[in-house]
Amino acid sequence: MTSSEAPSRLLVRDLAQAVTPAGREAPVRGADLGQVEVVEDAYVLCEQGRIAEVGRMADLGALDGDVEELHGRGLCALPGLVDCHTHACFAGDRAAEFELRARGASYEELHAAGGGILSTVEATRAAGEDGLRNAVARHREWMLRSGTTTFEAKSGYGLDRETELASLRAIKAEGGSPTWLGAHAVPPEYENADAYLDFALAEVLPEAAKIAEAADVFLERGAFDLDQARRYLEASCDAGLALRLHGDQFSEQGAIPLAVDLGARSVDHLEATGDDGVRTLAASDVVGVVLPVAALVLGRPMPPARALADAGAAIALATDFNPGSAFCESLPIVTSLACTQLGLSPGEALGAVTVNAAHVLGRADRVGRLAPGYDADLVLLDAPDWRHLAYHFGGEVVSAVVRSGRLEWRR
Ligand code: NIG
Ligand code: FE
Repeated sequence: MTSSEAPSRLLVRDLAQAVTPAGREAPVRGADLGQVEVVEDAYVLCEQGRIAEVGRMADLGALDGDVEELHGRGLCALPGLVDCHTHACFAGDRAAEFELRARGASYEELHAAGGGILSTVEATRAAGEDGLRNAVARHREWMLRSGTTTFEAKSGYGLDRETELASLRAIKAEGGSPTWLGAHAVPPEYENADAYLDFALAEVLPEAAKIAEAADVFLERGAFDLDQARRYLEASCDAGLALRLHGDQFSEQGAIPLAVDLGARSVDHLEATGDDGVRTLAASDVVGVVLPVAALVLGRPMPPARALADAGAAIALATDFNPGSAFCESLPIVTSLACTQLGLSPGEALGAVTVNAAHVLGRADRVGRLAPGYDADLVLLDAPDWRHLAYHFGGEVVSAVVRSGRLEWRR
């Protein structure tokens, strides 16, 4: 079958296991987060792009009419993975900066010296709309091969009207969920953050709100402060956007209380979050999105994901895929780090890259579970046991990817 055909029915048969986060609710917290349903010797039947049945091969009845078949011998089916935090719209690379950091320079020093994010801004502005579309398409393909069937991507490397809007259009055109990260850094042509925000909110937000689903801000020393983040998010909320924050990455600046106060969908990073922040987040409906690759690459402390989960917070995991702090598109690697560095179980990690990540994107009614009625987005693992998703660190664990009931990629 070629990927251009869209069979109305696809039977994935003879699977070693079909596995899904249990239940129907989202987000999933506490003890519920680790609950996983496993069907051994399984099949998954997809109809019209949705999952129609998940069951045991022994119970598979006769199917009349045309049915495309995909053999799953030796494979495990999981829901397609959901990457709820990426910066996939960028041009250029930061390999030279990577070397400088390997030699001891810090990420914050490079940023303050006009490198870091701002060097990607320069390359992204020069790429043009076609260049950006090609970049997102390339990154989307990398993500797909790692099992990601739903992705969010942020603007934030344009920071001018034309490039921010072109970035959001490119993300949407490639099937991503676009987030306007208009407050990522202060571009060099503005004297300070307030002057830049005057421009962004007046000139970019009205158009960005027509394309994006959410707005995001980098609340951090050297980026935007608490008052500026509030101003940016309140204006974005008034324009109809869901709210996200980059918070507590290097220092606590009040991101969690602000997220809770504004009813944000998520606060992301949390490497610097202390006990009060853990308690406040756990008592709220805001999802804590943890990004262990960024912590690992920048040599930061890992976010307190175990404490958050134990306190009853809703947590999600994401790659943070970007050219600086996390040049890694692999959610399987993220689940590995979750189990080895964050103290999460494989079941908790699975829930955090499926149903809870889908909730952050407002899509938990359609994606994140392998159950009747959900979109027929599946990852087939080359493994006899679904826990190889996290266990096979950095390996070729993804064997095939089905999206909307169609085989999109096979190794
Ligand atoms: O989430 N912290 C801010 N933004 C990104 C990194 C962006 C970059 O380095 O280009 C992050 O880690
Ligand atoms: Fe990020």
